[in-house]
Amino acid sequence: MLSKIKINKIIKPFNKVLEIEGDKSLSIRWVLLASQANGVSKSINLLKSEDVISALNCLKKLGVKIKFKKKICEIHGLGLNGYRYKKNITLDAGNSGTLARLIMGLLVHAKDKIKIIGDKSLSKRDFYRVTVPLEKFGAKFKTNSGRLPIIINGTDLPKPIKYNETKGSAQCKSAVMFAALNTDGETIIKAKKSRNHSELLFKHLKLGIKVITKSNIDLIKVKGKKEIRSFNYLIPSDISSSAFFIVLTALSKNSKLKIKNVNINSSRIGIIKILKLMGVKINFKNTRNYKGEKIADLLIESTKSLKPIDCPTKLNSSAIDEFLLIFLVAARANGISTFKNLSELNQKESPRLLWGSKILSMMGVKNVVTKDSLKIYGNPNLKVQKKIIIKKFLKDHRVFMVSAIAALTFGGKWLICDKDSIKTSFPSFLKKIRYLGAKIR
Ligand code: S3P
Repeated sequence: MLSKIKINKIIKPFNKVLEIEGDKSLSIRWVLLASQANGVSKSINLLKSEDVISALNCLKKLGVKIKFKKKICEIHGLGLNGYRYKKNITLDAGNSGTLARLIMGLLVHAKDKIKIIGDKSLSKRDFYRVTVPLEKFGAKFKTNSGRLPIIINGTDLPKPIKYNETKGSAQCKSAVMFAALNTDGETIIKAKKSRNHSELLFKHLKLGIKVITKSNIDLIKVKGKKEIRSFNYLIPSDISSSAFFIVLTALSKNSKLKIKNVNINSSRIGIIKILKLMGVKINFKNTRNYKGEKIADLLIESTKSLKPIDCPTKLNSSAIDEFLLIFLVAARANGISTFKNLSELNQKESPRLLWGSKILSMMGVKNVVTKDSLKIYGNPNLKVQKKIIIKKFLKDHRVFMVSAIAALTFGGKWLICDKDSIKTSFPSFLKKIRYLGAKIR
């Protein structure tokens, strides 16, 4: 049986405080690095979503002991390249591109062949983007024409490499950084800017990293063979999950919301910069630093008059997971908005640029989509009255959640399939929108 939700009513005004679950990118990175640390590492507020659980299950298969004690996750690290490789290990990355790509970096040193598989959505995604640079370390990757399943045949002596990352992909950059940890020598990466959680964690752990920041690129140097000491980490709330509530508040009438302890790393807050340019009222309070990451409480208010935007492409990477939401805001703006250089959006859990256009068209919003751009003809008075069915979206968690936000802010009679998709990144999503007053069946 399909799990579906029905939303037939716009949300009523609200004035509330929320706490959102832990950041997915940081959760997966903490889990992977803790598994190669010496000793026991602990985290609080680790995101307990399917992507992170897949990471924990992969590590268990590699001999890593993991325990949960109430809100604390404890990982008994095996040291650099200390994984226990049994014969014929298959690691299932589920829906998670981040997990599949980053763990491949750690496995360039694998002593036995390891097979990586994933779900239907992940099996459609491109992996040449990581296997090509990772092969330069000396490992061999047998792919299914660049897709999963992939068999990794590690090398005893991975050698440092030079790598030019041109897509602005933090997953590609991080996979190479993780592989560099196991080499004797210095890996040099020239990377188009993207989220920098791996760099900040490497710095915090004193892992022989140097970053030289230029306007469009970062030069990252990683010296391998440095011991990772066990480390404790309090995972801040996820800005990408918070974004659903930022947009819900902005598009609702007479509402206010405070979201506590959100990670506002500058490489992640593209959505805030873009929404502010469109006139949305968002403020940071109580801003502080935590182990290199920046954290704040967010204050958001509903916004009556929204400006259209010619979205600066330099903000694309820092808003990459939030564009479906930004498109909704553009649909309410007073004029035409344009978004360019977004071909990477079609490389996500589903072809999201196409889904953005599809959802807008179903809502009756005129838009023009190309292979890498979207033009949206906004209408401040738009009210949706039709019946809208959202299905067959490869269970993309963000397509599900953005559809719910559209239903709660524009109206219409929505039937949204595959409710379980929220478990990928944000298991408490429905509980939280209900807490704000949403009526969902
Ligand atoms: C992520 C990087 C992004 C993002 C993904 C998580 C990460 O992918 O879309 O949800 O944690 O490194 P790309 O790096 O491929 O753009």
